[in-house]
Amino acid sequence: MLAGKRILLIVGGGIAAFKSLELIRRLREQGAAVTPVLTRAAEEFVTPLSASALAAEKVYRDLFDLTDEAEMGHIELSRAADLLVVAPATADLMAKMANGHADDLASTLLMATDTPVMIAPAMNVRMWEHPATRRNAARLAADGVALVGPAEGDMACGEYGPGRMAEVPEIVAAAAAALASGPLTGRKVVVTSGPTHEPIDPVRYIANRSSGAQGTAIARALAALGAEVVFVTGPADVPPPAGVTVKRVETAREMLAAVEAALPADAAVFAAAVADWHVAGATGSKIKKKPGAAAPALELVENPDILATVAGMTRGRPPLVVGFAAETDDVTANARAKRTRKGCDWILANDVSPGTGIMGGDENAVTLITEAGAESWPRLSKTEVAARLAHRIAEALAG
Ligand code: CTP
Repeated sequence: MLAGKRILLIVGGGIAAFKSLELIRRLREQGAAVTPVLTRAAEEFVTPLSASALAAEKVYRDLFDLTDEAEMGHIELSRAADLLVVAPATADLMAKMANGHADDLASTLLMATDTPVMIAPAMNVRMWEHPATRRNAARLAADGVALVGPAEGDMACGEYGPGRMAEVPEIVAAAAAALASGPLTGRKVVVTSGPTHEPIDPVRYIANRSSGAQGTAIARALAALGAEVVFVTGPADVPPPAGVTVKRVETAREMLAAVEAALPADAAVFAAAVADWHVAGATGSKIKKKPGAAAPALELVENPDILATVAGMTRGRPPLVVGFAAETDDVTANARAKRTRKGCDWILANDVSPGTGIMGGDENAVTLITEAGAESWPRLSKTEVAARLAHRIAEALAG
């Protein structure tokens, strides 16, 4: 997927810099050419010789190297690439980028470039959570910089939490997605996915068995065809795909707000298993068991129907609105009725009876219902269902 692409890899000075050598190998395996740039601090962790040997390219290190400037000026260097990847992006590098500093080669290249930039932050958890880094990350995202990671886990400093650099395969996948071009390049698609959690009190909630696997696969397939994807996800089991904008939500009402904020879009796919109800008057206090008293009665209130709301928009409705119909009986008939009732263009009906193993499983058996009729697809992996759907969406938007 990266064949013929040139990546300028800026390595910041953090302990995760050792992973940059593996990153160079994996990017090259995918067909990319990699030009490494080491900051002065990065050289404390990896040697220019190893970076150069693995990249089979010259390594750039210094802004004031006259030989480099004569061969290729920093402006040209920053623009010769298809993508700039900063891995690891330290707190300091992020701060420089967010504030437009240009006092060394790495920061100057980042200022001078007109190509897309992706960063893989890596730092101590407190540094990641520091308000300054939060501000810088938000600023960079608003400036159009793509962030991959950080992941959560044990850190080299002995602490635990978010701040670990994303794993190399994830960075490679994100780079591939950022560079993907295909029939959906220039198109924006909103995808909902996963379950929602509806609080009963601060410690309990109502949920469902959706893993988020199908919605995640759809978002990944759309991004692979070049779409800009906004992925609105409830608390799912599977991690979100790389190369998409992730909006995490808990409740159906939050999901609706995130979808509305993501519009306008060329298409919207509603794969989330949204809870139909939330608990009225869920409060900030834990419901206590009282000896001898009756169990508490939960009053349920209907949630907004996100699919129906978007499909029914009079202004700004995405030209293609796709829903799912999770059914256990009379699948096609129920799904046809649901398509009409919700006002969407397409419905993918699936039988989620316990015997099918679809809910939470790796496969799906769907029937695509459009105005033209019903089309049953064979039982396929969720990845294959996603790829088929993404291609159908591309065809529909092209036509
Ligand atoms: N959906 C939604 N918002 C809701 C409920 C459902 O956006 N509050 C969307 C789902 O993402 C899916 C479609 O509507 O694309 C159908 O979901 P499903 O659970 O099958 O339908 P329901 O409307 O809940 O109908 P029922 O439970 O009666 O079958």
